[in-house]
Amino acid sequence: MLHLFVCTNETASGKPACGRRGAQQVVTAIQKELIARRVMARVTPCGCLGPCFDGPNAVVYSNTGTNGVWYGGLTAEDAPAIVEHLEHGTIYAAKRVDPPGT
Ligand code: FES
Repeated sequence: MLHLFVCTNETASGKPACGRRGAQQVVTAIQKELIARRVMARVTPCGCLGPCFDGPNAVVYSNTGTNGVWYGGLTAEDAPAIVEHLEHGTIYAAKRVDPPGT
């Protein structure tokens, strides 16, 4: 099963925080899309993931131990493509970003 973590952090030490740039709306839109498509995946709001300037940020991990796939600059309109990733593993290239520190 794939697990999506979405940063909904509200403060980021003077940097632009994902939670103030629509991250909660991203979470809500993804959860609605998962329910509508009956996709079994986990979505967890979380604290700062690190690359605050690129947000709203999210990362997909798999319980099979594969490396995470990072996304940046997400909006609620990206929900169908993110759910496509969670359902079929299809990476959403338009919003994929390099993992922080690489
Ligand atoms: S506030 Fe979202 S990555 Fe830092």
